[in-house]
Amino acid sequence: MFVRLFWVVFLFTVPVLCGDGYYKLDFAIRKGSKLTDVVKNFMEELDSSFTKRDGNGTLLDLENESAFYIASLSIGTPASEVKVLVDTGSADLWVMSSKNSYCSSNGGSMDCSTYGTYSEDNSTTFESNNSDFSISYLDQTFAKGTWGQDTVELTDDLVIEGANFAVADSTDSNVGVLGIAYTQLESADTVYDNLPVQMKQQGFIKKVAYSMYLTSAERNTGSVLFGAIDHAKYTGDLVSFDVVPKNGQNVYLQITLSNIQVTLVSNSTESSSVVPTTLASSVTSSTSPHPTIAAVLKKREATIDTQDVDALFDSGTTLTYFSQDVLDSILAAIDPSAEYNSNIGGYQVPCSLRQEGNKFTYNFDGKREIDVPLSDMVMEVGQNGTTGQIICMLGIVSGDTTILGDNFMRHCYSVFDLEDNTVSIAQMNYDDINEDIEIIQ
Ligand SMILES: *[C@@H]1O[C@H](CO)[C@@H](O)[C@H](O)[C@H]1NC(C)=O
Ligand SMILES: *[C@@H]1O[C@H](CO)[C@@H](O)[C@H](O)[C@H]1NC(C)=O
Ligand SMILES: *[C@@H]1O[C@H](CO)[C@@H](O)[C@H](O)[C@H]1NC(C)=O
Ligand SMILES: *[C@@H]1O[C@H](CO)[C@@H](O)[C@H](O)[C@H]1NC(C)=O
Ligand SMILES: *[C@@H]1O[C@H](CO)[C@@H](O)[C@H](O)[C@H]1NC(C)=O
Ligand SMILES: *[C@@H]1O[C@H](CO)[C@@H](O)[C@H](O)[C@H]1NC(C)=O
Repeated sequence: MFVRLFWVVFLFTVPVLCGDGYYKLDFAIRKGSKLTDVVKNFMEELDSSFTKRDGNGTLLDLENESAFYIASLSIGTPASEVKVLVDTGSADLWVMSSKNSYCSSNGGSMDCSTYGTYSEDNSTTFESNNSDFSISYLDQTFAKGTWGQDTVELTDDLVIEGANFAVADSTDSNVGVLGIAYTQLESADTVYDNLPVQMKQQGFIKKVAYSMYLTSAERNTGSVLFGAIDHAKYTGDLVSFDVVPKNGQNVYLQITLSNIQVTLVSNSTESSSVVPTTLASSVTSSTSPHPTIAAVLKKREATIDTQDVDALFDSGTTLTYFSQDVLDSILAAIDPSAEYNSNIGGYQVPCSLRQEGNKFTYNFDGKREIDVPLSDMVMEVGQNGTTGQIICMLGIVSGDTTILGDNFMRHCYSVFDLEDNTVSIAQMNYDDINEDIEIIQ
């Protein structure tokens, strides 16, 4: 659904070729008040990405960009390289036209060279549908333009002829989007064959299905594997859930989330400041002593009933969204004194929550649990200019729709089967070396 984070910034990328066509991107971490201010510098350092094909499942590698999971596509003849955000929360591919009026090259203020643009006029293989494209995202960005078709190369071996996509000649977003969800979620007036569907039609994959491997900020890989599962990328069982339809139709990649268990581990001396003594009514709590060799640790647990909510898996969204009720219960469990901080756009919480052992356990219908460490759910977003103290924010914010964004998906290997209408999940196993590929038939 494309909601981006605007705080943590990673600068100075240096692409390094390290065999096998892999580029290792090295980053230095820096924090800024707004990502948009510095992302330009960041992106200018970023060179081309790389791609790879594996067996009959095709692997599209994602660049390591913290909140962004970006892939490089080559479009048209001759080819233009454009980078797009891979989004399981939308269903259209759109790229920025070199004619975009918001680009500095056309008198606007946006540097469009960072992610690249596409010139439909210059491509001999472009066909326009002569119909209008228009989309707007949760983060208020929009894109307008024209529908068309051209050759889209996702990897060396995955080249879609006559791929349906839109060219935006008016957009304030500096990055295009590769939406890969259900066609019912498309923004066009009539349903058309989007890229995942065309991959199957053109014989690249056997089924409209793919697996998402999003890795942590400390890593430099991540991929969407079209048409296959990589069993090396998860631990425990991969459990399948039926997609929850909306008004009888499969529209969103969403499944049922029953509850979230909060586990806080702390030294007994710290426990009173970290763990609330009273909890909201919807929260149940228990204390269990947890002796270790060096110190007596206390483990506090609370279960937040999410009422079997439909939870959408959205790689295009940085954070996680829950209703204010659920969010309040989570805050009551982790830090009842947390306050909303409008400067950071979320709840400020103690950075000590990031300590090892603290986690949220997402329970899906009693059939699969996914652990998410609080170190990824509590983000360092800034620094107090006077005291130098690091300011942390909870990576869960309030929203009408329950969205499990990147901070969740980084811990959950997810297989989306858009024909059987299932989402299969397991605990992520970060393994950039081994592969155990199974084609989805
Ligand atoms: C890929 O497809 C070919 C031909 O259909 C088949 O022989 C081969 O075993 C497949 N590879 C994998 C990894 O499934
Ligand atoms: C289109 O092609 C012409 C001629 O090769 C070139 O000068 C121009 O820069 C190209 N325009 C874009 C937007 O790529
Ligand atoms: C564009 O035209 C092609 C060819 O007629 C058609 O298959 C496709 O569905 C159209 N795209 C949209 C978005 O309507
Ligand atoms: C990218 O990976 C490197 C390690 O290879 C890591 O140091 C850096 O923090 C990562 N950056 C992002 C933005 O994920
Ligand atoms: C507990 O306290 C000790 C001493 O202050 C510290 O070294 C240790 O890291 C703490 N453990 C946790 C889990 O916070
Ligand atoms: C920075 O710390 C000072 C002293 O604790 C406090 O008064 C001030 O509100 C803090 N500023 C921010 C932006 O948190």
